Parts: sequence; structure tokens; C-alpha cells
Amino acid sequence: ATTQNLQSALSFLTLGDRALPANLAKPAVGIVCGSGLGGLVDIIRNKVEFSYTEIPGFVNSTVAGHAGKLVFGLLGDNDVPTVCMVGRFHYYEGFALSQTTYPIRLMSLLGVQTLIVTNAAGGLNPAFQIGDVCIIEDHINLPGMTGNNPLIGPNMAEFGPRFPPVSDAYCPRLRRLVYEAAKKLNIPKFLHEGVYVFVSGPSYESKAECRFLRSIGADVVGMSTIPEVVVARHCGIKVLGLSLVTNRAVVHREPRSDPDAPAEERPVEEKMASHQEVLEAADSRAKDLQTLVKYLVEMI
Ligand code: HPA
Repeated sequence: ATTQNLQSALSFLTLGDRALPANLAKPAVGIVCGSGLGGLVDIIRNKVEFSYTEIPGFVNSTVAGHAGKLVFGLLGDNDVPTVCMVGRFHYYEGFALSQTTYPIRLMSLLGVQTLIVTNAAGGLNPAFQIGDVCIIEDHINLPGMTGNNPLIGPNMAEFGPRFPPVSDAYCPRLRRLVYEAAKKLNIPKFLHEGVYVFVSGPSYESKAECRFLRSIGADVVGMSTIPEVVVARHCGIKVLGLSLVTNRAVVHREPRSDPDAPAEERPVEEKMASHQEVLEAADSRAKDLQTLVKYLVEMI
């Protein structure tokens, strides 16, 4: 069914009455915009947009702050043909991971060779501040390790091998380019490099869960991206992952509730993760990320 849907989607985009013009139909770069980062499409020119509802095989994203459209156009001063997902599909919406990653396979069929995935994430590393950007250097696919990997099921051999490696998932050259870009563009020092841990959500992590995730080596935590990366790597697409730290995942141990305990051990109000906070942080850094991504695409 997936293969048939993909062929229908490809025909719809490249052959039908709304077929893409030749200069846009073979995008070299794919971009996935995370929560509140849809503004990345503002820097794309000659845009042709398709709502997810009209593309064969696409499901409908349901989260506030995630519109759903596929945008084709030119990016950067050297006119790089690009396809951009504004709004992505999440596992917590109730979709199968094969559905949430379907657009990545479509990108592969369209000819995409480099994927830039962005997301909003919680900072587990105490050095990370709200508004910082973390270049993903590696990941922990927690659901994937326990039975929910997007590649489970018959292997789609036309895309890649049964047992694809992911130990080299995050292209070192692209990661270096981000540092170069940030320096050139005089974007203040807000860059980190770290490990992203994928959790299913939709509830945010408990404090004990945050401490657990930190102790297994994660720097940021989020509810997306890794299934897309795994499928992209299966297809042989180069990947750059960027996490915007939108909140600090609380890691302190719960103080004692005993009213007779010394004051410093009694509960203090902790700021809890909220979707509002996530969207505000994304908004404040959106411009810098646009500039960064434009520069990267020009250099790819
Ligand atoms: N946890 C999980 N996902 C997230 C968070 C978080 O704290 N912030 C943004 N996405």
C-alpha cells in the first residue's frame, strides 16, 4: 500500500494538472520544520504549496502550531531547489511510524539528497539555555530500541537494506558547516552539539524520567525527528538535525514534603514544560535559524 501511495503522490506532484514546474520538481534539499519553526519557509522563493490533505498517502497533523503543507521552491542566493515540510506527523497523534515517516520516502523519490530536520526540544544538559540550538551528533531511539522502529515490517528494498547502520547518521561535514555559518553570520554563541533522545510523548517527562534520560547520555529530549532520520538514512539521504531548546527539562530531585524538614529541603515551585513556552522560545530564535539554514543550503 505504501509503495502504491508513494507512486500516486509522486504522479500527483510531478504529472497532474498541478504538476510542479521543472525547476522545482527535483529538490536537492528537504527541510522538516519543527514546532513554531514553520517561518523557515519565509525564505523560500517561487513557492508552490500543497496542503497535506491533497497529497495521496499523507495523514493529517493535528497539533496547534503545526500547519500541514509541503512547500516547494528555491532557497539561497544560488537557487537550490528545496522541499519543505511545514508541520510534521508525530507518533503521539496516533499514527504508525510508517505514516509519520512517509513524507521522507516521498522526498527520497523526488531526489532529495540532504535532509535538514529541525525540532523543538527540552534541554537536559544543564549548560543548555532556552533559545540555544543543539546540533544533533547522535541519538537514542528509545521507542525504537523497545519495539517501535519505523523500519519494522517487510523491508522496502527499493529504498535500502534490511539492517541499515545509524552510527553515522549525522553528517560530520554538515555539522561543521553549522559552526562555520554561525561564525560567518555573527550569530551569537548559542550553539551546542549533543545527543537527542526520542520519547513518544505526549505527556512531558517526569523529573525522575528527566534524570534517567540525562543519565543515559542525552542532552535534549523530544517527541519527533528520530523516526524521520532513521528512514532518511535507510534511503541513503544525508542528515543534519537541529534542536531548538525551548524549555529546560527539570532534573532536580523532588524536595521533601515534610513541613518539619529544613527549609532548603522543602518543595519549591518548579517551572513545568508547557506547549506555550515551547512556541514562544521557537519564535524568539526563528530569525537566526532562518539565516543559518539559508547559509547552509547555499553551501551544501
Ligand atoms: N520534552 C519532550 N519533548 C519536548 C520538550 C520536552 O521537554 N520540549 C519540546 N519538546
